Amino acid sequence: MRLLVLGGTRFVGRAVVDEALAAGHSVTMFNRGLTNPGLYPSVETVTGDRTVSLSPLAGRHFDAVIDCAGYDPAVVSLSVAALRDAVDRYVFVSSVSVYADQSVPPVEGAAVLSDDSYGGRKAACEQVVLSVFGPRAAIARPGLIVGPYDPTVRFPYWPRRLARGGRVLAPGAPDDPIQFIDVRDLARFLVSPSPSGVFNVVGPALPFGDVLKACRSGAPVELVWVSTADLLAAGLDPWMGVPLWIGDPEWAAANLVDNSRAVAAGLTWRSPAETAADVLAWDVARGGPEAEPFTAEQEKALLGGH
Ligand SMILES: NC(=O)c1ccc[n+]([C@@H]2O[C@H](COP(=O)([O-])OP(=O)(O)OC[C@H]3O[C@@H](n4cnc5c(N)ncnc54)[C@H](OP(=O)(O)O)[C@@H]3O)[C@@H](O)[C@H]2O)c1
Repeated sequence: MRLLVLGGTRFVGRAVVDEALAAGHSVTMFNRGLTNPGLYPSVETVTGDRTVSLSPLAGRHFDAVIDCAGYDPAVVSLSVAALRDAVDRYVFVSSVSVYADQSVPPVEGAAVLSDDSYGGRKAACEQVVLSVFGPRAAIARPGLIVGPYDPTVRFPYWPRRLARGGRVLAPGAPDDPIQFIDVRDLARFLVSPSPSGVFNVVGPALPFGDVLKACRSGAPVELVWVSTADLLAAGLDPWMGVPLWIGDPEWAAANLVDNSRAVAAGLTWRSPAETAADVLAWDVARGGPEAEPFTAEQEKALLGGH
């Protein structure tokens, strides 16, 4: 396939380019050349600013575009208008944050936000794509995306913390569900000629305790579970005050997203142990994050009474 990647050089787009090249596709990236310039010297990059114009792509034709990082419906409208006759399929990376009610397990047909939040704007972007491309569109709604080059401080905290060993604060309870998708599994889904429509692209809901076990890398560790009630009583931010922990009842089902449509369309995932090992290797190579999301001092204070 001839693939156009809008973006391509940070995290999701980078995995998409890697996957597309590995699958033997021809890849053209469209970006400003500001993020990780020179990352793919042998991949064609058309330089431009998508908030202004996609005219540098005029006259080109592609089998599909994968729009990795559209956040603003007005900007996505520009892309859709420029590409409606230039690409056969439009694949848009959205988010499960579009769902209006995160207290019940989100399924694809459920109501979406219509406000000016991140999720509301993503939902509006989806509508822009669907209104022009209809059955030629695929909307991927990932949950938490993890893997090498993750620009967030959420998942990488765990393999890094467990590698340090000792008494480790584990938030909530071992059976609490946690759901994510490895960026490389997401990329494989995006690059495959998946059917049209809307898909929740998330992995299985796993017990948090199993994921922490998968994140261990050999150092002796004692997991000390501190209940959600105790973490809230200690004043922690219920939205990932401890990385990946969610203590807000309005988000009780954020880790129970229904992925059956995507699975039927071919979504598969690697083991959490493989993801964790690869994230740790990348995290060590980069020298860790600029700032710890949850510090040793915070952990020590919370472990005091346990
Ligand atoms: N992290 C999560 O857990 C999570 C969960 C659900 C959904 N998501 C979604 O996953 C996606 C993450 O995207 P990513 O940042 O990893 O994608 P990416 O494609 O790897 O990186 C963003 C790309 O956009 C380009 N870009 C930025 N501004 C541009 C502009 N004005 N014109 C042209 N190109 C521009 C950047 O290059 P230049 O700067 O050089 O232009 C860069 O190549 C987002 O859609 C997000 O909503 C994330």
